[in-house]
Amino acid sequence: MGEVDPAFIQAIDRRPNPKPKNSSLVDEIPTIDLSALRTGPEDDIRETGSSPSDVSGHAKLVSEIGHACKNWGFFQVVNHGVPLELGRKIEDVAKKFFELPGEEKRKVKRDMVNALGYHDGEHTKNVRDWKEVFDFLVEDQTAVAASHEPGDEELRVLTNQWPQYPPEFREVCQEYARAVEKLAYKLLGLIALSLGQPKNRFDDYFKDHQTSLVRLNHYPPCPSPHLALGVGPHKDAGALTVLAQDDVGGLEVRRKSDGEWSPVTPTPNAYIINVGDIVQVWSNDKYESVEHRVVVNSEKERFSIPFFFFPAHHVMVKPLEELLSDGNPAKYREYNWGKFYATRNRSDFKKQEDWGFFQVINHRVLLEKRQRIEAAARKFFALPLEEKRKIRRDEKSLPENRFNSYFEDRTSFIRLNHYPPCPSPQLAIGVGRHKDSGALTVLSQDDVGGLEVKRKTDGEWITPNAYIINVGDILQDPHPSNTNQNLKATF
Ligand SMILES: [Fe+2]
Repeated sequence: MGEVDPAFIQAIDRRPNPKPKNSSLVDEIPTIDLSALRTGPEDDIRETGSSPSDVSGHAKLVSEIGHACKNWGFFQVVNHGVPLELGRKIEDVAKKFFELPGEEKRKVKRDMVNALGYHDGEHTKNVRDWKEVFDFLVEDQTAVAASHEPGDEELRVLTNQWPQYPPEFREVCQEYARAVEKLAYKLLGLIALSLGQPKNRFDDYFKDHQTSLVRLNHYPPCPSPHLALGVGPHKDAGALTVLAQDDVGGLEVRRKSDGEWSPVTPTPNAYIINVGDIVQVWSNDKYESVEHRVVVNSEKERFSIPFFFFPAHHVMVKPLEELLSDGNPAKYREYNWGKFYATRNRSDFKKQEDWGFFQVINHRVLLEKRQRIEAAARKFFALPLEEKRKIRRDEKSLPENRFNSYFEDRTSFIRLNHYPPCPSPQLAIGVGRHKDSGALTVLSQDDVGGLEVKRKTDGEWITPNAYIINVGDILQDPHPSNTNQNLKATF
């Protein structure tokens, strides 16, 4: 087995199974034929068709879409109207771009100022994804909220950055985005009809600075596909995602009927559609945004191209009033898409400030040294109790002010922790909730997992892994000699 950097290693309960259960019997997402949309004069959906067969064709389509959204949240579409040649062209330029040397790709690397372009450090739920990406806006330039702060009305402009090579890259990408955008509007119309609404019910939310995005994904072969993921489990935040994937496969969807991961077998020239959180809110939970992930493999690289259909920054997202009643009260409070978007982008770039915890990779601590201390700790803790108690520590011998002398006295210390299996893990805890009192803690842990960090954004306990660094009270202390008041110790 080759080795992957610990930053990519998923917690045990999030790792992919080597073989899906009942793999020969998998129940896959539905495939919907959109040819009924193409019978009209403008290759568009109508609320009613002109002939009886049109009417029944459209009604059947709307009902199929509604059924797929309700039962799966995911479906594939064929005969979708996006020219196949365009799909081939964008795949070709994506391959050419990702083949470029790293320094060439990094010329269009995204950063704190520009969130668009090339990126190879994407994280899902704080674990690195095994992939590299290139992002561009459908609008080439759009306005977004300048900050996540609720009272801040300021906007900032996001602009695409384009690589020099391959030369046709920009033109192909923009042509592709326009074609898939048309498909996205048609699908949104079908979803509106399936909710008993006019087909253009949602269209205005995307006019005037939509924030939709196209992402080119490249998943290189991975030496340890059982430990890492191309994209960790997540739900999509937007309205719809329209995904093109090649014939390698890897996308898996959490099946609503039984919670199992169901692979999406590539269908040539099909698009995979999923409803995102916004449709879930609009429909007041009639349609749910469903969890999905991407598994990687050790032999083949994979390319995929999602189109994320995002509204304009000023859109307030809330359940459709037309759907609400005494028996179906609103399940969500309204929220502003722009502020949500700004919060998410901010968290991509300010992980340290926002979390108090972060992971480091390429840390130059040799794996061998880490393995040796782990082995020594295991041997020590396996000793009989009386042997270990020979060096039992005496709390009284530690100086009271051991953490007050900064670093001159070298009060830094290493602790070897051993957490035996616990017969009642729901009652006990390995280490109770606390903040660290020092300057920094550098933690190495094995593959069992257990550390949880209270996320500052929502107070949820989440599980990181690998070398973990956390900011302690000393760095939080606003003393002039050692301060960064923006950093706060986290539980
Ligand atoms: Fe996704």
